[in-house]
Amino acid sequence: MKKITIAIDGHSSTGKSTVAKQIASHLGYTYVDSGAMYRAVTLFAMQNNFITKEAFNVNTLVENLHKIHIQFKFNKDLGFSEVYLNNKNIEKEIRTLNVSAFVSQVAAVPEVRYQLVKQQRKMGEDKGVVMDGRDIGTVVFPNAEVKIFMTASAEVRAQRRFDELVNRGDKVVFEDVLKNVKERDYIDSHRADSPLIKANDAIEIDNSSLTQEEQLHKILTIIQDAQ
Ligand code: C5P
Repeated sequence: MKKITIAIDGHSSTGKSTVAKQIASHLGYTYVDSGAMYRAVTLFAMQNNFITKEAFNVNTLVENLHKIHIQFKFNKDLGFSEVYLNNKNIEKEIRTLNVSAFVSQVAAVPEVRYQLVKQQRKMGEDKGVVMDGRDIGTVVFPNAEVKIFMTASAEVRAQRRFDELVNRGDKVVFEDVLKNVKERDYIDSHRADSPLIKANDAIEIDNSSLTQEEQLHKILTIIQDAQ
């Protein structure tokens, strides 16, 4: 069967990465979590105090972008890739609510997007890739054979993210998670460069009341039809 490109976009915490990983392992494709790359740049900005609660020094971040080296390395035990920033595994650090609080501001910077989109296109140049994010079907791979746009109510999404953080042992308050989900959606949808919008040819899936199995089955059927 010919290899294709699968773009999965949508709102924050819609379970894009869970289903994207399942599809990639089902098809033997490479999974790329583009959000992890924006989170890695954000962590770098936070570590260097380019972004704090008080200020965001965009120019300094842009001047230092060349110092950021992002890699995905496959972890055999986990069965998926983990993200590395300058050779350090940052998989756990980038999922905190702290990083989530700043990531949409960093992701709105055109120079950041330019660098990351270049890398994402390179990772997908041989097809056989499932990439999830906000602009994969609109900007990164506008010719992707399959485009899915995932959504669910903000409350359902915040509850899922809250459970995930609590299970990891993070101390978080549900209202803060809900606020963050809504804030990120707002910034991501209203930025000038590559805003979060559904591509005209994307198939929308509202998974508020779908089980993971139902959702996977639905998407695999869409993929079969496209191959
Ligand atoms: O997918 P995830 O929630 O980890 O993404 C974190 C943030 O990275 C998003 O809220 C968005 O600001 C940014 N992002 C983006 N474009 C992508 C993927 C993520 O702007 N393709």
